[in-house]
Amino acid sequence: MTTETPRPQGESLQVFKGTFIHATDTSPMETLAPRILGVNGMGKIVFIETVDKEEELSQTWHFQKKNIRVLQQREEFFIPGLVDTHIHASQYPNMGTCLDLPLLEWLVEYTFPVESKFKDLKFAEDTYTKVVKRTLRNGTTTACYFATIHTESTLKLCSIINKLGQRAFVGKVCMDLNNLFPTYKEQLCESVSETRRFVTELTGRMYPLVKPIVTPRFVPSCSSELLQQLGSYANTEDLHIQSHISESRAEVELVKSLFPDCKNYTDVYDKHSLLNDKTIMAHGVYLSNEELKVFHQKGAAISHCPNSNISLCSGLFDARNALNHNVKVGLGTDVSGGYSPSILHAMRTAIDTTKIHGFQTSNYERLSYQEVFKLATLGGCQALGLDHVTGNFEVGKDFDAILVNTSVPNSPFDIFPNDTQEDIFQKFLNLGDDRNMVEVYVAGKKVVPFPNA
Ligand code: GUN
Ligand code: ZN
Repeated sequence: MTTETPRPQGESLQVFKGTFIHATDTSPMETLAPRILGVNGMGKIVFIETVDKEEELSQTWHFQKKNIRVLQQREEFFIPGLVDTHIHASQYPNMGTCLDLPLLEWLVEYTFPVESKFKDLKFAEDTYTKVVKRTLRNGTTTACYFATIHTESTLKLCSIINKLGQRAFVGKVCMDLNNLFPTYKEQLCESVSETRRFVTELTGRMYPLVKPIVTPRFVPSCSSELLQQLGSYANTEDLHIQSHISESRAEVELVKSLFPDCKNYTDVYDKHSLLNDKTIMAHGVYLSNEELKVFHQKGAAISHCPNSNISLCSGLFDARNALNHNVKVGLGTDVSGGYSPSILHAMRTAIDTTKIHGFQTSNYERLSYQEVFKLATLGGCQALGLDHVTGNFEVGKDFDAILVNTSVPNSPFDIFPNDTQEDIFQKFLNLGDDRNMVEVYVAGKKVVPFPNA
C-alpha cells in the first residue's frame, strides 16, 4: 500500500518531491526517484507515489503545486534519520580524548570521573544540551542514551531531548559495585528505587518521543541481586533494557570469575531475566555462536560500535556472523569509547571492520555498504523495537528524515557531471558530514536547523 485514506489536511500537510533512498525488509537499499511524499500534521507519511500521480494527489489531499518542496535533482535527496543504538550522553566532555587505555582501565581513569560530575545539575544541563544538539546536527533522529547514576540530571537529559525534538530511549545507569572508584556507585536498594522513580517520573511527563530504558551498566558493576531486581522490574513493567556485553577479553574473563556457575556472559544476563526482545546489548565482540543462538531465541539485539571497539583496542565485532544467526544488529557511536558522534562515521568504521574480517578470513562475506546503510537506519529501529514506527519511507510511519544536499557551498567533497546517483550517495556516505545534512526531521517536525538558531 502506498497511499492512506485521505482526510482534509489544510495547512498541516507537508509535501516533498525528489529522490528518497531507504532500506526495506526485503532490500538493504532502494532508491525511489523521483517520488512525491506527503506528511500529515501528526508527522506521519500518508503517501509516497511516483510523480505522475501529482495531480491526482493534489486533489485528494488538497495541496497546491506552489506548496510542494521540490528537491534539486541529483544533488539533493532524503534518507531516513540515522539511529544511534548506543551512546553515553554523559561521556560527551571526553569525546575525542582519553583513548589510550583498554576498557577496564579506561573506565576507572577517565570515565567514572567524568560521569561523577553529573551530580551537578547545571553541568548536566550544559553538557546534555551540547550532546543532543551535536547528535541531531549529525542526523541522529533516534538515540539510545546512557546517562549516569544521578536521577535528576538524567531527567534533565530527557527534558532537553524532548525540547529539541529527538526520539530517544534514556537510561539512568545502575551500578552498586565499584571497588576501583568507590565514590561513583549506588547502594543496591537505592539503585532500584531510583530506577523506579526515574521511570515513573519520565512516564508521567508524557513526552511523546522520549522513553525510559532499564540500564544495568554491565555485569562487573552490578551485584547479582541488582541484576535480578532490575530484570524483574523491567519484565513486570514491560520496559526496554540496555547494557554492555563481551566487549573486551579482560572483561569476559572477569565475568567468568564473578559468575563461575554461569555458562557464559550471555547466560549471566539470561539467568537474571535481562535478555528478551526488548533488550539491546552493546558490543558482543567475543560472543560465541552458542551465545548468538540465545540472542536469536530471545529476540535480543546487538549494538555494533566499531569506532569504540577499535579506539579502546577491544576487538572486531563480526556483524556478518551475528546477522547469519538472525540476530538484530544496529549501529552505535558509543561516545566516548568511540570518538565520533556521527553514525555516518560509524557506518564507515563498520565497513572498515568488515573489510578487515575479509582479509583475515578466507571466503568471508563482507557487509556491503548498502547493508551497513540498513543497519544505520531500519536495522537500528528493528534493534530498538521501533521499526513499526519509523526507519524508512513507508506509508503510516513517522517521517524521520535527513535532507542531504551534496552541493552546499562548503561541502567536504565534490561531485562531477558524470557521477551517477549511486556515486553521489557513496561520496556522501564516505566523505559527507553534518554540512551536507541541511535539514533533519523527527516525526515530521524540522529539528535542524534549530529554531531561533
Ligand atoms: N562497559 C561498562 N561501561 C562502559 C562504558 O561506559 N563504555 C564502554 N564502551 N563499555 C562499558
Ligand atoms: Zn557503552
